[in-house]
Amino acid sequence: MTSYIIRGGNRLSGEIMISGSKNASLGVLSAAMLLDGPCKIENIPDIADLNVMIEICKGLGAQIKRETDGSLMIDPRMINSWEATQDKVRHIRGSYYLIGALLGRFRKAVMFMPGGCNFGTRPIDQHMKGFEALGARVLIEYGKIFVEADELKGNHIFLDVVSVGATINIMIAAAKADGVTVIENAAREPHIVDVANFLNTMGANIRGAGTDVIRITGTPRLEGNATYSIIPDQIEAGTYMIAAGVTRGDITVRNIIPKHMEPLTAKMEEMGVATEVGDDWIRVRLEPDQVLQAASFKTMPYPGFPTDLQPQTTALLCTAEGNSRMVENVWENRFQYIDDLKMMGADIMVAGHTALISGGHPLTGAKVTARDLRAGAALVLAGLNADGETEVTDINKIERGYEDFVNKLRQLGADITRIEG
Ligand code: UD1
Repeated sequence: MTSYIIRGGNRLSGEIMISGSKNASLGVLSAAMLLDGPCKIENIPDIADLNVMIEICKGLGAQIKRETDGSLMIDPRMINSWEATQDKVRHIRGSYYLIGALLGRFRKAVMFMPGGCNFGTRPIDQHMKGFEALGARVLIEYGKIFVEADELKGNHIFLDVVSVGATINIMIAAAKADGVTVIENAAREPHIVDVANFLNTMGANIRGAGTDVIRITGTPRLEGNATYSIIPDQIEAGTYMIAAGVTRGDITVRNIIPKHMEPLTAKMEEMGVATEVGDDWIRVRLEPDQVLQAASFKTMPYPGFPTDLQPQTTALLCTAEGNSRMVENVWENRFQYIDDLKMMGADIMVAGHTALISGGHPLTGAKVTARDLRAGAALVLAGLNADGETEVTDINKIERGYEDFVNKLRQLGADITRIEG
């Protein structure tokens, strides 16, 4: 089994370039499957989840080529199948955006139920509610989703739950529906805005993305023939900002949108961390022996504190003085990594959706398992702080979402090695 071996104690410092957003890329790549012409997408990260998604799209008939600068040349005109039923579909969550894209393109789609990180039930009822409102019939049987519409017609859709995935999926399908679709109680995450901006660049008419009411006027053709650049990954950026925190280091994250980082920047400042914010960078600077203050966090849809930074932040709270609280409001089972942190000496009690962290107990190296993408990142961060050697196993889960993780950490001074098992 491939693992990371980390010898903790190094103070990380330096500058790091942040890659394109994983979740935005998954949405944009799917949305590209709607187009009637080619397009170029820049700043797509070279990570396992995206590479799987590219293979799935190629399997549908799309031509996709990665250029030497990392950008993708995409020509979806040859897509000849509305069935995304390759085994790979089950491996990533973001593959569900293809339902919206294929429904928009062919008025029908068949897909395996999507996979992805396992941190609780991950229903897709709101996606289906949206497709039904657009006029589609939905059937789920034998582990597959069947969606078909005689006509796709714009409608008013109120989401019962603020869902990133449902907002993007419905937006994609509605871009090629007849008439106007209004999504109310829409999610507001930066990658929703990114998918909307991409589609608009390619000829769509979407207004209000980034607010809780999105209005999509469907267009019969989306010509493409344009270039689009993906936004930076705010979760990757946040992970390196927290790496500065856990190692009492001094890291500047570059190629970011500082506004997207505000929920984390504000909370780190509350803990006593000095931050400096520029146009497209943030510097997080701590003294080598700095004492951090305990704090309380609650995860929420954007612009609240992101659930995808919850595990990494909990690792940081283990190194603060006093009692902290982490409330997980988005996913029902996202504390599985806490047993691993405990194995490393952390003092944490979980009661329902709340983790109570008694900080200041020194962390020590241990053999631990990456149970999902962000949980794995949290264990690496804990290992960077811990005394002795930490082995993190199952790191394929981490590499689903972090481009060049080991080299980037090494560039900052971390003692981390990837061991092929
Ligand atoms: C996306 C992100 C994931 C992040 C999450 C929340 C991608 C590929 N993944 O996941 O990294 O953790 O947003 O920021 O972008 N829900 C329903 N019914 C639905 C859909 C969702 O009840 O039809 C519930 C979920 O159980 C969850 C909440 O809504 O409790 C939020 O889920 P959602 O925003 O849809 O997350 P994803 O889009 O799957």
